[in-house]
Amino acid sequence: MTTIDSLSDVAPSAREARMQALPIPPYSGTSLPKIDYDAHPAYGGLFPKATLRERIHALNVFLRTFAFVTIRRIVDYDNMPLLTKEAGFSGLNFRTALRYISMYTSIRASRTIGTLTGARRPATPANPALLNQIKSDGIVPLTLSPDEIEQVRTVTHRGFARLDERRAGIPLEKRKFDDNVYWCTRSSDPEAFATVEEIFNRYGIIEAASAYLGRPVGVKHVNAQINDDGYTFWKGVFPDTQLNDPWGSYLHIDATYGMLKCAIYVHDIGPDGGPFCYVRGSQNAEIGWFEGMVRRTNDFGGFSGRKPEARKLFMALPAFLRKKADFGGDLRDDSTDVQRLREGHFSATSNYGNCVLFDGNGVHRGGMVNKGERRCIFILLAEI
Ligand SMILES: [Fe+2]
Repeated sequence: MTTIDSLSDVAPSAREARMQALPIPPYSGTSLPKIDYDAHPAYGGLFPKATLRERIHALNVFLRTFAFVTIRRIVDYDNMPLLTKEAGFSGLNFRTALRYISMYTSIRASRTIGTLTGARRPATPANPALLNQIKSDGIVPLTLSPDEIEQVRTVTHRGFARLDERRAGIPLEKRKFDDNVYWCTRSSDPEAFATVEEIFNRYGIIEAASAYLGRPVGVKHVNAQINDDGYTFWKGVFPDTQLNDPWGSYLHIDATYGMLKCAIYVHDIGPDGGPFCYVRGSQNAEIGWFEGMVRRTNDFGGFSGRKPEARKLFMALPAFLRKKADFGGDLRDDSTDVQRLREGHFSATSNYGNCVLFDGNGVHRGGMVNKGERRCIFILLAEI
């Protein structure tokens, strides 16, 4: 491990955060793995060919979901305020739908005016090394000081306490992903946002994210998340078969667009503690506009699940639409794709840092805890 020492051009406003070069080569593929589902023993190898009726049904679900994903993309949903996660949200109804529409319209209008007048533009990075590393690797493990980690721990203590309370009330076998996440809000947890913003500004993280994304950026969400060794969502990939769990289980690209994410570890995380993992440089793999939309559509539309019904539905799609954002569980261990992913697979344990900035368009996974419990803060950086 060597510390990157090309930070001599850091502007005085950005303090130097310790960044380490990754110990593995970058992903050598130029695209995401191409999976032959017809030959896969849990898909085409298991199920009979879909009937015409099943194909029409699958295509119908796909097209409706594709329309939904297109609307999300057009309204730039991932860079809009998320009312559902705000305190006091009363559920989706006519009133809240109207509120969404008027809010999105006024935000889009003011952003357009900002672009035309030149007021809306990406920041100039005060820490070019950070920007360069996120561009080349898609992931940057940084090391915050013990004091800064303590501050983060303090301002998220309330969130974790709430989470502990909630999780204690849900039996392990009934816990879903969202049950393990507490969404801080600016109204209820202002100090969590203020502390993260102050630290990120100190290291030029927000400016680098803005320059990378090509738009103004801020801290959109701060989430506290707990994973433990009882929550083994990545195991038993094909529960109705005798197939061993594949190495690639849970490798995925995010369904979101136009944001960067950051994980802050509030305690040490070793190889068995569910570290965040990233395939170095995979965010630069070529994914066309249509392919990206198809992958997200399949995830949103229930095609990416691995229960038999979901797999049958997926196989009823035309072959060119059989692509997932959550594809890792379908990779065959003996494929050359897996060999390439393994070469570039970086496990960001605490040895490398405690603040991991990454682009979710690259292949990644995390929270796969083999021993104990992982407490982590996830921060979403997007236009706000
Ligand atoms: Fe993800």
